[in-house]
Amino acid sequence: MEAFKIGIIGGTGGIGAWFADFFKGEGYTVHVSGRTTAMGLDEMTRICGVVIVSVPINVTISVIEEVGPKMKEGSLLMDFTSLKAEPVRAMLDCSRSEVMGCHPLFGPDVASIEGQNIAMCPARIDRWSGWPEEVFRKRGANVFDVAPKKHDEMMSIIQGLNHLDTITMGLALKETGVDLAELKKFSTPFFDTKLDIIEKTCTNNTRLYADIITGNPDILKIIEIYEKSLSRIKDLVEKNDPEALAELISRSFK
Ligand SMILES: NC(=O)c1ccc[n+]([C@@H]2O[C@H](COP(=O)([O-])OP(=O)(O)OC[C@H]3O[C@@H](n4cnc5c(N)ncnc54)[C@H](OP(=O)(O)O)[C@@H]3O)[C@@H](O)[C@H]2O)c1
Repeated sequence: MEAFKIGIIGGTGGIGAWFADFFKGEGYTVHVSGRTTAMGLDEMTRICGVVIVSVPINVTISVIEEVGPKMKEGSLLMDFTSLKAEPVRAMLDCSRSEVMGCHPLFGPDVASIEGQNIAMCPARIDRWSGWPEEVFRKRGANVFDVAPKKHDEMMSIIQGLNHLDTITMGLALKETGVDLAELKKFSTPFFDTKLDIIEKTCTNNTRLYADIITGNPDILKIIEIYEKSLSRIKDLVEKNDPEALAELISRSFK
């Protein structure tokens, strides 16, 4: 494949900036854009063989609708969105280029791609087959293909249930009115770890977590399961039945 440049819309911050550095480290020329950068989408799509959309979820579809029609035939349009069904559909609908959905299953705080999982959703691929999977694999990433619908189903648990539970505990903690500084004096190592996750989730990029939860097509099913689990526990607590609660837990994990 002849040399090509990579453009990352949203490459000035977050995971887009992380991958800009990564691809530069692999020898590629990378151009980035954000809301205030000089490079516009006309120029980026003209000079870049690959354009990656890595903007907040709430503006992803409108950015795809803007960039998609500008993509040249034979070029590659990708995205890093944490949900896949809608963005992949939009990329297919709005462009005549090749299309690859990609979800790096890590955040910009990791030091290396080695050992990280990356989900790929090849949607319209011909000459770009194998790129960028080979680049990621060469550096030790676990790269796998998945259909967008299956990806979003899995994310309803990995992200939906997981962040939902963290945020619920964070809100409940606040609702108790407890003084956190005082609480920390009583902390156990297990609680320290949990509190660390709650503080990270509830004070960083909260819009991302909100979009990941509310935008997932399977999330209501997950919330119903969560509510049902909580109400089964509440019921057994009300009945003061620790034996039944222990039995419920051990039976579930057999
Ligand atoms: N953060 C993660 O852990 C993570 C992991 C995997 C996937 N993702 C996905 O990656 C995408 C970006 O998330 P992020 O957390 O990296 O976001 P972020 O830290 O908020 O960064 C967003 C980037 O998008 C740019 N941007 C914002 N609004 C824009 C607009 N209207 N037009 C063009 N550029 C715009 C920002 O640039 P300026 O501020 O310079 O305008 C910035 O470079 C999301 O789809 C998310 O689901 C995130």
